[in-house]
Amino acid sequence: MDAAPPFSTADKATEKAPMDALVIQGGRRLSGRVAISGAKNAALPVMAATLLAPGVHKLRNVPDLRDTRTFAAVLGKLGARVSFQADLCTIDTSNVDSVEAPYELVKTMRASIYVLGPLLARLGAARVSLPGGCAWGPRPVNLHLTGLAAMGAGLEIEHGYIVGRDVKLHGAQFSFDVVSVGATAQLMMAAVLAEGTTTLDNVAIEPDITALGEVLVQCGARISGLGSRRLVIHGVRELKPIDTAIIPDRIEAATLAAAAVMTGGDITLERVIPDHFEASLRKLEEAGATITRERDEVSISGRGRPEAVDVTTQVFPGFPTDMQAQMMAVAAIARGTSVIEDTIYLDRFSHVPELQRLGANIELKGNVAVVKGVEKLSGAPVMATDLRASAALALGALVAEGETRISRIYHLDRGYERFDHKLTQLGARVERVQE
Ligand code: EPZ
Repeated sequence: MDAAPPFSTADKATEKAPMDALVIQGGRRLSGRVAISGAKNAALPVMAATLLAPGVHKLRNVPDLRDTRTFAAVLGKLGARVSFQADLCTIDTSNVDSVEAPYELVKTMRASIYVLGPLLARLGAARVSLPGGCAWGPRPVNLHLTGLAAMGAGLEIEHGYIVGRDVKLHGAQFSFDVVSVGATAQLMMAAVLAEGTTTLDNVAIEPDITALGEVLVQCGARISGLGSRRLVIHGVRELKPIDTAIIPDRIEAATLAAAAVMTGGDITLERVIPDHFEASLRKLEEAGATITRERDEVSISGRGRPEAVDVTTQVFPGFPTDMQAQMMAVAAIARGTSVIEDTIYLDRFSHVPELQRLGANIELKGNVAVVKGVEKLSGAPVMATDLRASAALALGALVAEGETRISRIYHLDRGYERFDHKLTQLGARVERVQE
């Protein structure tokens, strides 16, 4: 990441996002090499984990995103001092003197709730706003709350805030009815300082979560079973500050791989962990891509129109819901009909009407989309509605005839670092303009 100017946590994330748009001229093949950034969904829980140990924490390869800046602002409100210099994020949590994560920040980013467990574990108190919904409907946090309650948190809901007072967390046995990335991270962070042993069953095993567990172990936590569906965590009295590098972003990598397939291009992704996005790579191979996997690089070549493929999203190691919208863009121009089902979020389809504006032939029935591939998409003005929908629209625009203008691109900036620069570097014609 270019040296981002150091910023105070108070300003960057909360300032009104300029309503930028991306203007993309379609029809160019992507080719060349691009370095993948650190993973948003791995960085956010590690940033929260710095609350578990007073001191100066060093996080390398943190992507410069709206979401990481928002999280920095949340930590700043709690009294932490956060600074970014190039891709090093330094977080000093020596003087955390507040336990309130305010609504005006939490409503912009659901992952803010990650501070709840660490605050309860380290300070025995918290006042964290309930997160808002998302573009695709409400997203419950019941597993976070019932899991913490099992550990003795005694939480109350007061005026839209989750409130804990005089909390002394203790070990518990907890089984997740639904595999939840966020709730697994939350309870793992709460358990590492709790009194006694916690057993968590049916946990998420996404790479972001396994990486969080490994970082906590490096800091002195006692966790066994990482990578399996059962974690056993023995609480310890204190942890050392974090000094780690965030893993690469498997969803950014898979998104750019899809771009290579759609444009009939030939690109190499650098600084990746191929195993982390194997399900996406396999699906793209089914669609006709030629893919070679090296230790920390993946090369993808597309050949003409992709073949139609069926997709059903699953928890890791299955096909990720965060690639569902992007795969629909591939299907939109594929030879044949694809059936795409999202079993994780039943209404994560706000990209469908916008892809239809580009000429895609999609019929949505509940959480199943039937996509009849068309020869060509045609450029049009469209609107980003959430992070992965905006990525799908950018992919569609890369192959659409003529010009596509994607408004509200701040959605893309939440989770893709300098995405327009990366596409341009690969040969696309992309311009960022003020709306
Ligand atoms: C994480 O969200 C990711 N966000 C999401 O990525 C991703 O789509 C999701 O995991 C699934 O992989 C971050 O890591 C910051 P969940 P999270 O809890 O933790 C239900 C992106 O595009 N559920 O695994 O919120 C929930 O409704 C973002 O980068 C409950 O019922 O997802 C969903 O159906 C979008 N109760 C399922 O579990 C709860 O308490 C999986 O959600 C929590 C979740």
